[in-house]
Amino acid sequence: MPFRTSPFGQLPDGRAVAAFDLTNAQGLQARVTDYGATLVSLLAPDRSGQMADITLGRDNLAGYLEGTPYFGATVGRFANRIAGAGFTLDGAEYRLAANNGAHSLHGGIHGFHCALWTAEAADTHEGPAVRFGLRSPDGEEGYPGNLDVTVTYTLTHADELRIDYRATTDRATPINLTNHAYWNLAGEAAGPILDHELQIFAKRYTPVDDTLIPTGVIAPVAGTPYDFTRPMAIGARIAQVPGGGYDLNYVLDNLNGTLVTAARVADPRAGRMLEILTTEPGIQFYSGNFLKDTPGKGGRLYQNHGAFCLEAQRYPDSVHYPVFPSVVLRPGQTYRQTTVHRFLVA
Ligand code: GLA
Repeated sequence: MPFRTSPFGQLPDGRAVAAFDLTNAQGLQARVTDYGATLVSLLAPDRSGQMADITLGRDNLAGYLEGTPYFGATVGRFANRIAGAGFTLDGAEYRLAANNGAHSLHGGIHGFHCALWTAEAADTHEGPAVRFGLRSPDGEEGYPGNLDVTVTYTLTHADELRIDYRATTDRATPINLTNHAYWNLAGEAAGPILDHELQIFAKRYTPVDDTLIPTGVIAPVAGTPYDFTRPMAIGARIAQVPGGGYDLNYVLDNLNGTLVTAARVADPRAGRMLEILTTEPGIQFYSGNFLKDTPGKGGRLYQNHGAFCLEAQRYPDSVHYPVFPSVVLRPGQTYRQTTVHRFLVA
């Protein structure tokens, strides 16, 4: 059976939430839910064929309703931060909820991560797929325009989890979508990922202030602890990074929307590898710095650096920096993004 649907829980207003289990020809399994168009689990083999769930999350809807740090969720309308929780577009000013100090983070209080999406499952020639759909109404969380979004997860028979995003609007709006999966290639219960070897195919990054807002500069990674142009253990220089670990946007050499390899991560113990390819011009590397005592699966409490995130997206706070790639979607245009997670063993 390439896919199976089961109940995942009920929202306080009575609406039913479902889980979709996708299985590919090699036996990889992904579970997604229509609550937040969220990736709940991903089962992949290690070098001896042992399967483990390599993404952090909760066991059921009740867990997600308690609130999570965006475990596996689709983040929108605007991933990462917007400084001062406001922006000006075409001469009009827009105010957003400040949910991260003075800033707006990950789409606001009721972002896409806590919306119930429509869902349609299909067994495609590439592999089982689920397409989630959402209409974000004009003015939601302060953003202009009715925005129609689809997010399609396909678990391909080539051992990839591909996420395809599409959106259209009836008024100009900023948009920046991403998936916020937390990965631990040794298994979600395995503890710190500091021994994972990371390579990021980016020579530049966007430096931030101490509230994680870009300064507007694009700087070289060479000579800094942010340089992952060659594979390096995540923990090797983490003590030199202010703020308890990595939380920054890398600038990919990808301004024309082609699919490029952005990052590669390997767990030396289990031999699992993850390669991320994207059409986006940036990727946020976050080393799970705020995970301390966060409730997870099986009653576990996750700890700092218990997982890493690599969130393909436009640059944080781009609405305030005309030099950054544009984040404005206008009527008649289609926002498109493809990000591929390729699972390998070494
Ligand atoms: C992103 C941000 C982090 C943090 C996490 C969620 O990775 O860059 O600062 O907000 O999401 O906790």
